[in-house]
Amino acid sequence: MPTAYELLKNDICSTPRTWLVTGCAGFIGSSLLEQLLKLNQTVVGLDNFSTGKQRNLDEVQTLVSGEQWNRLCFIEGDIRDLTACQHACSGVDYVLHQAALGSVPRSIDDPITSNASNITGFLNMLVAARDEKVKRFVYAASSSTYGDHPGLPKVEDTIGRPLSPYAVTKYVNELYADVFGRCYGLESIGLRYFNVFGARQDPDGAYAAVIPKWIASLLHDEPVYINGTGETSRDFCYVQNAVQANLLAATIENIEAVNQVYNVAVNARTDLNQLFSLLRDGLAVNHSDLKSVQPFYRDFRAGDVMHSLADIGKISRLLGYEPTHTIAQGLQEALGWYEK
Ligand SMILES: NC(=O)c1ccc[n+]([C@@H]2O[C@H](COP(=O)([O-])OP(=O)(O)OC[C@H]3O[C@@H](n4cnc5c(N)ncnc54)[C@H](O)[C@@H]3O)[C@@H](O)[C@H]2O)c1
Repeated sequence: MPTAYELLKNDICSTPRTWLVTGCAGFIGSSLLEQLLKLNQTVVGLDNFSTGKQRNLDEVQTLVSGEQWNRLCFIEGDIRDLTACQHACSGVDYVLHQAALGSVPRSIDDPITSNASNITGFLNMLVAARDEKVKRFVYAASSSTYGDHPGLPKVEDTIGRPLSPYAVTKYVNELYADVFGRCYGLESIGLRYFNVFGARQDPDGAYAAVIPKWIASLLHDEPVYINGTGETSRDFCYVQNAVQANLLAATIENIEAVNQVYNVAVNARTDLNQLFSLLRDGLAVNHSDLKSVQPFYRDFRAGDVMHSLADIGKISRLLGYEPTHTIAQGLQEALGWYEK
């Protein structure tokens, strides 16, 4: 029995559509771009290279055929500029809006810049999508919206107070998208990603996510720091699961599934001590000197939540989402990429 995702891929392959991927030079955006081009779709890409990289686009180019690559129209532009958003949305069927400044600590250091891209930029994209009459606006929401609510697993309609400026921006996105549904009939779906990881996630810089940062530290023989006791846990989600969620969200026909937010995760909890062991042991297969490396412990970080685990019942039921990769399966693919 084929999955909803397999059926969808066959369907869009036979009747290609036009997609706008904002943030397409970033980690998740470039994975969406790669999958869409491989399915022979026409893609408009928008990015200002603030955290995204030309090398991510170059790598996607090597992974698709010349004919598929020619179906990409890349626009270097900024979502804080309404005209750039309007230009990018023109003639597009579906928007997959990924462009934003990620990272909780970045937003604590500089809330104004995060606000400009994540709220003003988001609003510009909504206005442009509305005016250009796109069929659907799918956007990257975040598990940070659960804030200080202690309940586990996280269920979409029960959230707490935000713990960082970043979390505020992502929650405001949901509020705006919802209001654009009510006021203008814009169809949207928000995807609350839970700690996505995979190839092309940036390992460098002060705001790198834990998986690429630790892999880079291990490979470069640098210390790995665990903030807190290592019992902090997350529902780590391989990027291919997030790609699946985006494509299902853009094309689902059941109207009850639209103008909703969904958790995107695997419903499995891994704590940081377990994560460290998975990474070290996975890399030690080809780097035996890493076998006995131990992490260093330091203070818990402001703005972080202690535990995170998603209920994925809603997205499974309404979008037909079935994660294809567990954390172990995802890490196997990702580690190979970082080693290269
Ligand atoms: N990676 C995760 O675990 C995770 C979790 C929750 C939510 N998200 C959200 O998913 C989306 C993608 O995240 P990612 O991990 O791929 O990050 P990323 O930094 O790799 O990608 C973001 C991309 O957006 C671009 N961008 C940022 N501001 C822009 C602007 N003003 N105009 C145009 N382009 C701009 C960047 O250059 C970059 O290419 C973001 O909205 C992020 O908040 C990610």
